[in-house]
Amino acid sequence: MAEKLIIFDTTLRDGEQSPGASMTREEKLRIARQLERLRVDVIEAGFAASSQGDFEAVKAIADAIKDSTVCSLSRANDRDISRAAEALAGAKSARIHTFIATSPLHMEKKLRMTPDQVFEQAVQSVRFARNLVGDIEFSPEDGYRSDMDFLCKILEAVIKEGATTINVPDTVGYAIPELYGEFIKTLRTRIPNSDKAIWSVHCHNDLGMAVANSLAGIKIGGARQIECTINGLGERAGNCALEEVVMAIKTRSDYFGLTVGVDTQQILAASRMVSQTTGFVVQPNKAVVGANAFAHASGIHQDGVLKARDTYEIMRAQDVGWSANKIVLGKLSGRNAFKQRLQDLGVDLDSETEVNNAFAKFKELADRKSEIFDEDILALVSEESLSHEKDTFNFVSLNQHSETGERPHASIVFNVNGLEVHSDSDGNGPVDASLKAIEKHVKSGAEMVLYSVNAISGSTESQGEVTVRLQNSGRIVNGVGSDPDIVVASAKAYLSALNKLRSQSDRVMAQG
Ligand code: KIV
Ligand code: ZN
Repeated sequence: MAEKLIIFDTTLRDGEQSPGASMTREEKLRIARQLERLRVDVIEAGFAASSQGDFEAVKAIADAIKDSTVCSLSRANDRDISRAAEALAGAKSARIHTFIATSPLHMEKKLRMTPDQVFEQAVQSVRFARNLVGDIEFSPEDGYRSDMDFLCKILEAVIKEGATTINVPDTVGYAIPELYGEFIKTLRTRIPNSDKAIWSVHCHNDLGMAVANSLAGIKIGGARQIECTINGLGERAGNCALEEVVMAIKTRSDYFGLTVGVDTQQILAASRMVSQTTGFVVQPNKAVVGANAFAHASGIHQDGVLKARDTYEIMRAQDVGWSANKIVLGKLSGRNAFKQRLQDLGVDLDSETEVNNAFAKFKELADRKSEIFDEDILALVSEESLSHEKDTFNFVSLNQHSETGERPHASIVFNVNGLEVHSDSDGNGPVDASLKAIEKHVKSGAEMVLYSVNAISGSTESQGEVTVRLQNSGRIVNGVGSDPDIVVASAKAYLSALNKLRSQSDRVMAQG
């Protein structure tokens, strides 16, 4: 019987630390539900002590999720650990993940602590945490650049105190596969009680090797937990991509000899949900979940695939959630067909009212667009379940005029705390005019650092999905909006980013 590899998803914690990827509590809860459907073993739901918002998100996820362990990150101090335990109190299965930096550079320059002080704090924290929750993970931050003797000493001590998982982060993405694999192997060989803990890998992607390093940590080092994020989301170049490691382990089970509990058919829905929520678009040639991952453009390849799929394909598109029949619904489809499609896509709306609202939006869209694709439905429900009465700004309608040789003009109507506002402006183009009209009234002063448009399902008939990234007072947020009219999609995206700027509170961030 093959051994099981534990899949620890940190999209909602390490992934969310990517500038602009911050999510609201509702967004996180929705993604957590999808991660549960994906059957990941552990969901790192956030960093409870970092802000009231994060505390509430971890708590909401802990209370709702039943089939995955729910974990909170915490620095190695009693206050953070107590806060994590409090947020996790309702979880069926809870884990506290506590960390402290152990590399000479981090200890001296960041923590301004001696190795002896770091050792003491790590040991005391695990002892404290162990009395609150039975499942404790310990991470020596920047572990891969730490001194081997010191690391062995501290890890042996925290295992003795009751740490049940030892995670070895390559915090800055500096590792090389063989060297990282050997590093884990040396730790496991030299630490006398290493067999009392499960070993875990946590690799960042700065040199594009996060997946390769993680797999080497498994194969060479003998680790049995992988920490990863959907779409490889994460700070800088991101984290190890869940979809890639999982499919590597499955596709090359002949080599790895391990099993994973993940329901791979839920991968694509998870990828789209994370991308639509954060506005981090998935590149077309991204392995497993990119639009071209299973597209065979060249005639030779197409011919080969038609004759025998495995001439050019090593995985089946359906196995990761790509549906063979892409046109799914149309104008005449009824509520039941719509509801069934939601179920097939793994979308679980919270109430019948949400289903009704989404269905009404679907009907509106079907009037304007003859073919409705899975991507359209996912974008639509994502807007439906992410739009809240609490939002300050809500789009109502837009009228814009552009003609060759004339300066474009836009008039927009939107709600501000329930009150209708009319504003208009000129601009370099219709999008510019519309966003200027919003800004004229809101006066956020935010700087736009990114604007991107993506055709949801390929053709000009498709809905446009717009991402707007705004920066204000050191905070960065992404807003996403979709509509067959890209000017409207842009206005929705801008309003969504403004809502996030309003709701985001300052938070303490973990370093990796
Ligand atoms: O990369 C890192 O070191 C981390 C730790 C907080 C586990 O994310
Ligand atoms: Zn990290």
